Amino acid sequence: YTSDAYPNIKRNPNFAQVTAEDVRFFQELLGAPSAVVDGVTSDNAADDIEPFNSDWMRKYRGHTRLVLKPKDKDEISAVLRYCNEKKLAVVPQGGNTGLVGGSVPVFDEIVINTSRMNQIRSFDEASGVLVADAGVILEVADQYLAEREHLFPLDLGAKGSCHLGGNVATNAGGLRLLRYGSLHGSVLGVEAVLADGTVVDALSTLRKNNTGYDLKQLFIGAEGTLGIITGVAVQCPPRPKAVNVAYFGLESYDQVRAAFREAKGQLSEILSAFELMDGRSQRLVHESTGNKYPLEGEYPFYCLVETSGSNGEHDLAKLEAFLEHILGEGIVADGVLAQDETQFQAIWRWREGITEALSHLGGTYKYDVSIPLTDLYQLVDDTRDRLTSLGLVGEDDSYPVRAVVGYGHMGDSNLHLNVAVRQYSKEVEKAIEPWVYEWIAQRNGSISAEHGLGVAKKEFIGYSQNETNLKLMKQLKALYDPNGIMNPYKYI
Ligand code: FAD
Ligand code: MLT
Ligand code: ZN
Repeated sequence: YTSDAYPNIKRNPNFAQVTAEDVRFFQELLGAPSAVVDGVTSDNAADDIEPFNSDWMRKYRGHTRLVLKPKDKDEISAVLRYCNEKKLAVVPQGGNTGLVGGSVPVFDEIVINTSRMNQIRSFDEASGVLVADAGVILEVADQYLAEREHLFPLDLGAKGSCHLGGNVATNAGGLRLLRYGSLHGSVLGVEAVLADGTVVDALSTLRKNNTGYDLKQLFIGAEGTLGIITGVAVQCPPRPKAVNVAYFGLESYDQVRAAFREAKGQLSEILSAFELMDGRSQRLVHESTGNKYPLEGEYPFYCLVETSGSNGEHDLAKLEAFLEHILGEGIVADGVLAQDETQFQAIWRWREGITEALSHLGGTYKYDVSIPLTDLYQLVDDTRDRLTSLGLVGEDDSYPVRAVVGYGHMGDSNLHLNVAVRQYSKEVEKAIEPWVYEWIAQRNGSISAEHGLGVAKKEFIGYSQNETNLKLMKQLKALYDPNGIMNPYKYI
């Protein structure tokens, strides 16, 4: 059969369906009820299962009847060995905050959720290497590190829910990649279990290890298609002693680019974030929170600039001089510097709160793309023009599109184009896709900068990967997961 949500995807008839006997096996292995949510033998479990079937945006919905919560790699190994033998398909799931429908089943795949694997295994204060279970929540890890004067080298709006395993599986980028780099650099080791139950111990804590293929890299960003990550070793930097943030209003995208150039030049080693928010995105945050804008006037563009360093007075002086310079040169129209921790948090909410503000509007078509900086914001204008000329955008309820907004990690050339709709509709989707992917491919961009492909971008991978690369990916998939039980129906 096909799923309502995915008319073009057919259930693979080679996969078995979960039986009462399978449930009994898992209950014995993992210990019911805390480790198994079961809608196969128990009729009234549907409500308990619903949150595992539905993604953060409530856009993608699967039909699993079984959720397993193993507590360690050995249990995961036993679960997968059984699933592989019985040809039962599975979906790895962490905090379920993914934005491309990768973390929920498409049909009846078993959800393997990592929430019970939540132990910090070790932390070495001299090297800064943290070893942790895959199910540790990002904010919990960062709090643990804060108590030891260190920092997790990734931060994002979903930190209160997402798991380290999910972060590594999506190769999440986040708000400070500009400063701390990608997880491909800061993850030193990965422990993972393959579809047949084999435990891959690549949990090195070494910074340097040139001994053949770097197998852990394959799991970083694989989105659960090659195996389940059970543990990670991460290089964590010392927590900066001084962190400052400023918020600017600007009249044009050209001025945003100029401000970024100046920030790099003048703030250099202490620059830790440069984020872009357009006026429409900030209006949405204002409407959803009721908070007073940080600046007096309204502007078409805003930037958030953060510095992190070891000397508060020195950093503040540099940031003030930078602010004075870009105000004096007319690059920014207005700006404010956070004076205390409360203001610091309040300013960051104007950036981090956009995703949630959008989620209150109905539905959102999300495009997370890498484009060379010169053209970055042009995509938002071109999309709005296109939808306007097709008669799809308007203020009143008769138009399907409520807003076309842009924001993102300017410092990484990563734009988030979001088209907020009153409800999801094929008419709007067809007006944007594949047009948007063609637009990006023409500029040698990437159709997914940081969220991954999941099921949302499954059909469009060819806009960013060539035939040879796709063939190699399929060969790797066949080698690691010959029965194809790991997160099927997604991008590979
Ligand atoms: P899930 O959503 O549970 O899973 C995501 C994918 O990883 C799925 O394909 C799943 O099968 C796989 N997976 C999960 N755990 C494992 C595992 N242990 N082993 C193998 N595969 C696994 N992303 C960014 O890159 N940058 C951002 O700034 C950012 N901000 C966000 C802000 C908000 C408010 C939200 C809701 C999401 C944001 N995201 C961002 C998207 C999301 O990718 C991240 O939140 C996070 O990395 C997902 O982690 P998770 O534990 O929730 O994974
Ligand atoms: C962000 O940068 O805010 C996240 O990637 C989430 C989003 O794109 O909305
Ligand atoms: Zn982002």
